[in-house]
Amino acid sequence: MNYVLELNSLCVVYKSNNYFKKAIDQLTLKIVRGEVFGFLGPNGAGKTTTIKSIFNFLPAASGQIKIFGEPSCNYSVRARMGYMPEIANYYWYLTPRELLRMYAGFFGMKKHAADKKIDYLFSLVGMQAEANVWMKNFSKGMMQKVSLAQSLINDPDLLILDEPTSGLDPVARSKVRDIIKDLKKQGKTIFFSSHELSEVELVCDRIGILNKGTLVKTDKITDILQQKGNNMSLERYFLDIITRDKR
Ligand SMILES: Nc1ncnc2c1ncn2[C@@H]1O[C@H](COP(=O)(O)OP(=O)(O)O)[C@@H](O)[C@H]1O
Ligand SMILES: [Mg+2]
Repeated sequence: MNYVLELNSLCVVYKSNNYFKKAIDQLTLKIVRGEVFGFLGPNGAGKTTTIKSIFNFLPAASGQIKIFGEPSCNYSVRARMGYMPEIANYYWYLTPRELLRMYAGFFGMKKHAADKKIDYLFSLVGMQAEANVWMKNFSKGMMQKVSLAQSLINDPDLLILDEPTSGLDPVARSKVRDIIKDLKKQGKTIFFSSHELSEVELVCDRIGILNKGTLVKTDKITDILQQKGNNMSLERYFLDIITRDKR
């Protein structure tokens, strides 16, 4: 089987002189092409750590990460990935258009093609009006839109989003949902962390629940919702698993 994203016994450790924390412990997870995967877990479970490790920003203490069958540090692999970080600390003195031009440059895009793509992305996320305004006074939701547009600049085959809907109003949230559904139709693979279980329920094919650095469950959304008749929601399922996990 050719996996788009493959984590094998991943362990990630934070350590300094007087601090040691095994943030991710033996995480094994395989994501197939075209899948929309929801990565769930309480605060501090290790979702962001896993994502940073996938991008090689945090080295694995042990285990292996493969993307399209190759190590994620390979440029050819990185060029096929999009990343929306949990906290977008972009240069405040740039406009969204300038920022996206910079990212387009990282991927070697020509100016004309980049500008066309940037206009398309701003209309996709609904921020044409703010495209040429300094980001200094942007709200969290506006930064989230910039960040989502940034993550799509290189037309990635694997899109990884860290809490993409946090800080978004209901209109923007439904827009993100539509964008994810549309990308899936195009055969893209999407892996995202979220606390918005009702959103996850609507867009994901499968979810994984991480608790205290360990993956405690993976399941298909359709299988979860079929359990215990119509009363089962993803929220109830999530709470059952987290409260039962006594590690
Ligand atoms: N830079 C860091 N240095 C030390 N510990 C960290 C660091 N980042 C995260 N952690 C710890 O690792 C654990 C997982 O954090 P994180 O991956 O941010 O969780 P999540 O994204 O699921 O909320 C938490 O206990 C957190 O305190
Ligand atoms: Mg996080």
